[in-house]
Amino acid sequence: MDMTKIPARQGVYNVESYEKVREGFDWNEIKKEFSWYETGKINAAYEAIDKHAKNPMMKDKTALIYSAPDREESITFEQLSKRSNQVANVLKKYNVAKGDRVFLFMPRSPEFYASFFAILKIGAIAGPLFEAFMEQAVRDRLEDSEATMLITTPGLLERVPVDELPALKQVVLVGDGEIDTERYIHFNKEVADASESFDIEWVDLEDGMLIHYTSGSTGKPKGVYHVHNAMIQHYATGKWVIDLKEDDVYWCTADPGWVTGTSYGIFAPWLNGVTNVIRGGRFTPESWYETLEKNKVTVWYTAPTALRKFVSAGEELVKQYDFSHLRHIMSVGEPLNPEVITWAQRVLNLRIHDTWWMTETGAMLIVNLPCMEVRPGSMGKPIPGIEAAIVDNEGNELPPNQMGNLAIRKGWPSMMRAIWNNPGKYESYFINGWYVSGDSAYMDEDGYFWFQGRLDDVINTSGERVGPFEVESKLIEHEAVGEAGVIGKPDPERGEIIKAFITLNPGYEATDELLEDIRLFVKKGLSAHAAPREIEITESIPKTRSGKIMRRLLKSWELGLPTGDTSTLEE
Ligand code: PRX
Repeated sequence: MDMTKIPARQGVYNVESYEKVREGFDWNEIKKEFSWYETGKINAAYEAIDKHAKNPMMKDKTALIYSAPDREESITFEQLSKRSNQVANVLKKYNVAKGDRVFLFMPRSPEFYASFFAILKIGAIAGPLFEAFMEQAVRDRLEDSEATMLITTPGLLERVPVDELPALKQVVLVGDGEIDTERYIHFNKEVADASESFDIEWVDLEDGMLIHYTSGSTGKPKGVYHVHNAMIQHYATGKWVIDLKEDDVYWCTADPGWVTGTSYGIFAPWLNGVTNVIRGGRFTPESWYETLEKNKVTVWYTAPTALRKFVSAGEELVKQYDFSHLRHIMSVGEPLNPEVITWAQRVLNLRIHDTWWMTETGAMLIVNLPCMEVRPGSMGKPIPGIEAAIVDNEGNELPPNQMGNLAIRKGWPSMMRAIWNNPGKYESYFINGWYVSGDSAYMDEDGYFWFQGRLDDVINTSGERVGPFEVESKLIEHEAVGEAGVIGKPDPERGEIIKAFITLNPGYEATDELLEDIRLFVKKGLSAHAAPREIEITESIPKTRSGKIMRRLLKSWELGLPTGDTSTLEE
């Protein structure tokens, strides 16, 4: 492994000015950069879009470059402001009010972004859902959030059990063609007729803005609740870490159904008034390289899985494109292999800046800044205003180079404010004033943090978090499956793949067809990324005496590791 350190460069900050920012840092200083610091009236949609639309120097600047296989469009800040006003007027007409949950289930499109801001402009709470979710995944989230309105497309409607969701009063359909207007709200028609001006709902910094569902090791997905205050950190990290400057063309590859796609696919670039590239369609190295080249992308935020695919696609492919405008690449979601960093350095002559954070943290916490030396394999150091540490299970700080729980001192601007409907779960994240992440890591003598792994059973496959419980629950709904235990199995490209151990009910034979049928059953019920890539049939699933599946034991078996303490194993 090449562990050569990669030297620092000048960013928005150089090392000295950055150290000054860190010293005695106070988030209130950042707040002063916003107009509402004096008026007290805020709304993140105003700060991200309308403020620029009102500025004669900014209104005609391209906010969004949308590029999908079947559609290309450039939209200015003024246009995005007006379009979101139109949608907001439609929502208002249908009585959406402050605090209501309005969910979005549709592909990335200009309509998605206009609707997202419309929800915020009303003071309602947006719940974007990953477009690849299937019925069970959609149902769980709409049920738990008690969303009153869903904005979706006619094509995705069949995955929404509309009649079985008592709280869901209205469904808006985005698209052309026949729409049953007795039952559904016709987005295109209503929006076309709506006024382009709207009186925005001014809210409090602590008012709700967004819910992202994420998976833990037990139970259904949890609704991570964020408030408008989060924008302070989105804005600041956009400047410090992404290093955004006025003329940048920025591209974040994440889907807005995941937190990276909102915090850094929406807020960070637009709060900083930067041109934002949004790309729909499937991933191929060629089409993504094309997107970088064609739009002259200057800063790119993506994930290790994609970067590993570029490495596999080879150096010859790179030579066919011009990346001279690209300043640096950023990465999040899973461990970034040192080999990928050194590859990018050698082949692209670009630094990759790893960043660490979570759905619950709302924004970046541990990062590599341009003015920092990159130590391949390390996630970097905490941003100003963030105190990170390695703690033991009681919340006591551990010395450098000792492995433990990666923890953050409670109380940063973008921290989740609740787990929706689940105060007990929320409290369980905090020990002794620390937010405990569930990741294990250590810190070296120079304050760089090094990721080791998850401490719970949460699976990270291609940077997407999957809860084993959800997959197990789906598996046992299949008529042939008796019991199921699900683990993450290390994989060179995807980080981890999902492996399921199952027992078969009497009368079923272990054939390839049956295993494929079971796999498809999970894929059609939950989503493609949650479907097990490997299924193994066993005689029984190891459980504790109280009936908990011992996934750790399954994992040890799979990896041929010592099984450790099995004293709680059922007979
Ligand atoms: O295990 C860590 C991993 O992803 C988890 C958070 O997943 P999620 O909430 O889906 O958010 C992903 C994008 C913000 C973390 O607990 N993770 C995230 N970033 C890194 C990482 N693992 C290693 N290195 C990272 N840079």
